[in-house]
Amino acid sequence: MLLLPQTNQLRALHTVIRDKNASGRDFEVYSRRIIRLLLEAGLDLLPFEKCEVTTPVGETYHGLAFTPRVSGVSVVRAGESMEAELRDMVPGISIGKILIQRDKRTKQPELFYKHLPSDIGAGHVLLMEPMLATGGSALAALDVLREAGVPDGNVVLINFLASPAGLERVGLAAPDVKIVTSSIEDGMNENAFMVPGIGDFGDRFFGTV
Ligand code: PRP
Ligand code: MG
Repeated sequence: MLLLPQTNQLRALHTVIRDKNASGRDFEVYSRRIIRLLLEAGLDLLPFEKCEVTTPVGETYHGLAFTPRVSGVSVVRAGESMEAELRDMVPGISIGKILIQRDKRTKQPELFYKHLPSDIGAGHVLLMEPMLATGGSALAALDVLREAGVPDGNVVLINFLASPAGLERVGLAAPDVKIVTSSIEDGMNENAFMVPGIGDFGDRFFGTV
């Protein structure tokens, strides 16, 4: 598990969006800045290959090339908040969708729909699920990826907020999955919402509160 460095800037970004009075516009813009940091950190966990280029001064730069086989998969709906950023960062990347909703009463995740890139099993996957409360939704999404032939070791879970219990559950059930998060919360309340938390991320990001 990789927790983003808790810099003053990151804490200031979190402070804006965790405020219950944050405007919809501020919530979107400031959470996107954190999403960008998460995606950059997640991409850094993928394999690289040696690559040389000739610079404009005629010298060789001994560098690295990104892996060409990476796709994104968002857990609808909150995970869709990360798609635009990823598509800006990796031109032409394929994006799959898995629609999972947590039952409001039982808190159990239900799978309604999936559409994944056909060759997804041949590469690495950034799985975008901003909220890890009980961890049930993330694990249900991982099951879908496994069925599609993606080994856990090829998955990087891009997560915004995680509860200690959710991290433990996913860590035990899927130890090979790499997780990048920007915050580990204190815990969960009786509604299985994280505390101090941020509320319903999907509702706030998409303005459906
Ligand atoms: C929320 C959140 C996560 C999930 C986390 O989704 O977006 O997907 O709950 O909870 P868990 O770790 O306990 O499974 P929700 O189904 O409420 O809907 P949304 O993504 O459409 O907002
Ligand atoms: Mg969700």
